[in-house]
Amino acid sequence: MPGGAVSPVGSVDARRVEAPVTVKTYLMCAFAAFGGIFFGYDSGYISGVLGMEYFITTFEHLDPSLATTNPDAFVVPSWKKSLIVSILSAGTFFGALIAGDLADWFGRRTTVIAGCFVFVVGVILQTASSSLGLLVAGRLIAGFGVGFVSAVIILYMSEIAPRKVRGAIVSGYQFCITIGLMLASCVDYATEHRTDSGSYRIPIALQMLWAVILGTGLFFLPESPRYFIRKNNKEAAREALSRIRGQAPDSEYIELELNEIEANYQYEMAVIPDTGYFDSWINCFRGNIFHPNSNVRRTVLGTSLQMMQQWTGVNFVFYFGTTFFKQLGTIQNPFLLSMITTIVNVCSTPISFYAIEKVGRRPLLLWGALGMVVCQFIVAIIGVTDGGNPHAVSAMIAFICIYIFFFASTWGPGAWVVIGEIFPLPIRSRGVALSTASNWLWNCIISVITPYMVDSDQGNLGAKVFFIWGSLCTCAFVYTYFLIPETKGLTLEQVDKMMEETTPRTSAGWKPHSTFAEEMGVNYNDKVVAEPTVAQIEV
Ligand code: BGC
Repeated sequence: MPGGAVSPVGSVDARRVEAPVTVKTYLMCAFAAFGGIFFGYDSGYISGVLGMEYFITTFEHLDPSLATTNPDAFVVPSWKKSLIVSILSAGTFFGALIAGDLADWFGRRTTVIAGCFVFVVGVILQTASSSLGLLVAGRLIAGFGVGFVSAVIILYMSEIAPRKVRGAIVSGYQFCITIGLMLASCVDYATEHRTDSGSYRIPIALQMLWAVILGTGLFFLPESPRYFIRKNNKEAAREALSRIRGQAPDSEYIELELNEIEANYQYEMAVIPDTGYFDSWINCFRGNIFHPNSNVRRTVLGTSLQMMQQWTGVNFVFYFGTTFFKQLGTIQNPFLLSMITTIVNVCSTPISFYAIEKVGRRPLLLWGALGMVVCQFIVAIIGVTDGGNPHAVSAMIAFICIYIFFFASTWGPGAWVVIGEIFPLPIRSRGVALSTASNWLWNCIISVITPYMVDSDQGNLGAKVFFIWGSLCTCAFVYTYFLIPETKGLTLEQVDKMMEETTPRTSAGWKPHSTFAEEMGVNYNDKVVAEPTVAQIEV
């Protein structure tokens, strides 16, 4: 062992020895979670802006007096609403896909910093806009930036967080998303009555601040050691890991963790070698879909999990809440209500910090889906039976808030935590990128079609739309039961092994019993002492 006695393989239990979690580690991860703020803010501010009088007057060239004389005519038409809202997710979709490659080529940290730059450019264009074209272009470009950040922050955080608190730390990212959404609706609420362009320009321009803080802060954080292992630079990986864990580079903790990361990487590369750019993309889809450990199965799992998260219908409330509440008729201040839903979202998310580590990922997603199903069907049933009655409307709003509570404490963070954990290192950055892109793709699809389903001059579903979300949440429940493995408390390398040896339903009982370093025959002197056997590398 560098700087100490040589420990033969197996004399130290590599499954258990690990560095204590330091405050510094927490702070580093918490800072990275800040990326969630501009994800949330950027997707959240638009709902309020689309309902602002000054914005409608400027972008629709309408007479402001129409707002009182003919409020039904004083709106942004459905096609424009869906274009403005969804274009961000379209940009984010492509941004997230590209980010996977950039994260492997230039590093996780550098890609996030680049994302902040792109985002600022997009925000400047949006702030300057007073017509549809520039606003849409700005949102598309900002979307690219958000895509970079949202895909790579998850990767980065999952890779640097210690296993015991990884779920809680990645949930911190979701917490920041919710804070971003809430800040956006508070700022909208504060500026909505302004009679100048500040009404929409202030909420838009403020976002630059988040990008500047994140981009600057990341300069001071270390790169992910797993990135350096991919690059065959073990010394840089050692240096980065020692900073993250707060231990000497030659300490036993660092040595063990590094060996395990490296051995796992070698193992995965032995199973499915990566022989070129296209090959490494194709690797994400190799293997037998019915085998829980195959790459294709993991890719399908990550992308479908994010799809299911969007199918819960949560963004219907956050993107179109203001207009939906207006439609319910008896509501005095729809802006205020939207703000309340975002506050419920923020306050409920921290429950997941504890629950995701204590209860585990699988039960959390199962219970969350069940809770949402119940609330959504109640809202839909009240809506069709007694929709016009003010008491019924209050009950609907209460159940919408309870539904947000269930989402925020379970599926909101859970989906991000799981996608950061299920991919082996050779395909991790692309797997997380594809999964994040799927989140944005479905986000985009839902924001394009929702106004057509709900608006009174279109499908006019109104509250009945909750029957759709309720049915989709039922799918999410069944999906979780059959497909989501339990990853709580395992290192990313142990997750890899667990997925190889169990099925989702038996995964919770799995215990680590060997290390990749042992299997690959790596000892503390860094030497491969035995070639892996064929049985060891067969999937
Ligand atoms: C989702 C977003 C959603 C947010 C609400 C995130 O996990 O991916 O689409 O707006 O949660 O808190």
